[in-house]
Amino acid sequence: MTRSANSQDGRTAKQAKAAPKASIFGLDFVLHTAEFTKKAVARHGHVWEVHIAAVGPSVYGLAGAEGLQAFYDPQNIARYPAADSSLLLNLWTSNGFPGLPPLDGEGFLRRKNNFLTLTTWDAAEKLLQATDQPIVEALQHIGRDGSTFSYWDFSNRLILGLYSKQWFGLGIEDWNGGKHAADIVVAVQDAFAIFGDKHLTHRPQELAKIMLTDYFQAALAALRSQPKEHGKALLAAYLQTPESQKLNDDELIMDMFQMLVTGTYGLLIQGNSLMYRLLKHPKIRAKIAAEISNIQEPLTIKTLLAQKYTEAFVKETLRWYPAVFALAGHSTRDFVVEGKLVPAGVKVLACLYGTCHDPTVFEDPESFDPERHLPPRSEGPQAFWNDYSVVFGAGNNRTGHSCAGKWLAMAHLLHITIRLVQNWNFEMADDSEQIEWPRFEPHPENGLMLQRVPLQ
Ligand code: HEM
Repeated sequence: MTRSANSQDGRTAKQAKAAPKASIFGLDFVLHTAEFTKKAVARHGHVWEVHIAAVGPSVYGLAGAEGLQAFYDPQNIARYPAADSSLLLNLWTSNGFPGLPPLDGEGFLRRKNNFLTLTTWDAAEKLLQATDQPIVEALQHIGRDGSTFSYWDFSNRLILGLYSKQWFGLGIEDWNGGKHAADIVVAVQDAFAIFGDKHLTHRPQELAKIMLTDYFQAALAALRSQPKEHGKALLAAYLQTPESQKLNDDELIMDMFQMLVTGTYGLLIQGNSLMYRLLKHPKIRAKIAAEISNIQEPLTIKTLLAQKYTEAFVKETLRWYPAVFALAGHSTRDFVVEGKLVPAGVKVLACLYGTCHDPTVFEDPESFDPERHLPPRSEGPQAFWNDYSVVFGAGNNRTGHSCAGKWLAMAHLLHITIRLVQNWNFEMADDSEQIEWPRFEPHPENGLMLQRVPLQ
């Protein structure tokens, strides 16, 4: 159980044991953080410490239902507070640990609830209706000339193109006649790398910042100067909410960053994982095909959500490689988890990836098995997560930190799975191709080369 320093079982911080050391020098932690956290959970359980020799500080890892519950207790952990004067600066000079841009500190709830007006079911329906036909057409067209193609490049340009238009009105393909669309895609990839391995980026993040800020400023200006033309953009409605009107341009750009980089690109990474899992598991693909064989057109959110096996497949893909593998905060008091002490004043990681592969949470976690998400098994720390997946973070999403876009994300991932399976006639260009974590992070070598084959 999670216990505060004055815990109800009488165990105080003084009586608690020291957490096991997962690494003495911390080199492997620094170099391969995602894999390290997963292995540390498998070897040391839900509480452990890493001492980073060169830098000095200790980092504590928390995992499993108990560990994550302790992490999400605001009395234990402070998330990185947003600096109200320079949100952008804060965003681009990350603290060196993977985490999300801060929607924290004073005004957090107001700002988050404001943001949530963008990610309603209505917005999801709107996005579905606006993106469905172009997605189907693109899937039916790609690789028709017999050439091999990179699914990564194809999906990046397609999805960022479609979503940027729906979010902002001025899409990346519209800005300067699409001259910079390819550069924006790369800038988004580089910007996302702030959450992971910065050395995997193509260019310094400063350049990504300049490019994206220029684009966001142009989109905001277009929205203000041509309200009729861009009136259907989700950002147009957002700007009308009284709270949003109080945001300055830096803050608005920060929210645009959340929409395009954290949100849409997070979707894309998970969408690439979906494609890969469909390729690897033809039997599972056949089950999805059977479930959706009589699906009603045009697709609606209600229809998407009724596909329970398909939903279980999406959840399993998210569990396998969550795009956000860990979250960071710092402890504001001593607290005890499963009898082990987490002292005040240390950096603490919530290990989402490790939890997703923790045998105390998911049975036989190394097997890819969508059925685990269906009754009667319904695995996962349900009581705590209230039907949230670990991968979206925890807590009520109005009062806590869990993902503001999770329903929108689930809708998109169900949508893309259905359209991929219906238009299925792809295979890997090279059978030996392996895409393993962290290769869904921005990286020039990120492949998944496909070719079109006759429809079965
Ligand atoms: C599959 C796609 C996605 C995944 C895996 C994902 C995952 C996450 C995770 C793990 C968090 C952090 C929770 C925490 O700090 O405790 C988060 C936060 C957030 N996400 Fe997502 N997300 C996805 C898509 C989206 C989309 C589409 C949007 C909106 C456009 C979005 C907007 C946000 C925002 C605004 C936050 C900050 C919430 C807060 O601090 O209160 N996300 N997301």
